[in-house]
Amino acid sequence: MVSNSQPTILVLSQDDWKLLREVRLKALREAPHAFASSLELETAFAEADWRHQIQRSTWFLARSETVDVGVVAGTEQGPRERHLSGLWVAPNWRGKGISRMLFDAVEAWARKEGTPLISLWVSLDNLKARAIYQHLGFTPTGLVAPFPGDAQRKEERMVRRVPSA
Ligand SMILES: CC(C)(COP(=O)(O)OP(=O)(O)OC[C@H]1O[C@@H](n2cnc3c(N)ncnc32)[C@H](O)[C@@H]1OP(=O)(O)O)[C@@H](O)C(=O)NCCC(=O)NCCS
Repeated sequence: MVSNSQPTILVLSQDDWKLLREVRLKALREAPHAFASSLELETAFAEADWRHQIQRSTWFLARSETVDVGVVAGTEQGPRERHLSGLWVAPNWRGKGISRMLFDAVEAWARKEGTPLISLWVSLDNLKARAIYQHLGFTPTGLVAPFPGDAQRKEERMVRRVPSA
């Protein structure tokens, strides 16, 4: 379904697990190389697994009317860091500022909790995402590790300070 209205950000609660399943499976199908997970793995998730995902991370869903247009997760990493992962925007919504909206939601959440740092991992071959993260103020740390599930590829940790309000 195509929707043209301005998307809004929804913070998913446990009972929204079907929404998370729908958007995650779309993301994993469309951009399998971007994520440290797989369509095969998450297709097999049961309701309890999706609820667990929502329990361990805060999921922000961008929706236009009833259409999912993007998603991102924020996860606590101790008292001073929040981790951003799973960023995905539907192909026909790219280039319209959706990932900026999702990032702003994660940043506002981190700021509200008084957390000074947001981190993420991005594969070295995902040039577009790296460029966008740098544009959003993330800096490469030089800390590189094998990409989960594919040791031939590498990912790098990037960080961004959270300005106080
Ligand atoms: C990466 C992805 C999330 C980007 O989504 P998007 O909605 O097209 O991004 P946006 O249009 O919101 O761009 C975000 C910002 O980066 C800027 N930008 C876009 N492309 C850029 C580029 N190549 N270089 C620098 N800045 C860029 C935009 O202008 C925007 O900045 P602004 O808000 O100041 O105008 C999307 O392409 C995607 O889902 N890719 C597949 C999954 C993926 O790779 N996820 C990342 C996993 S680590």
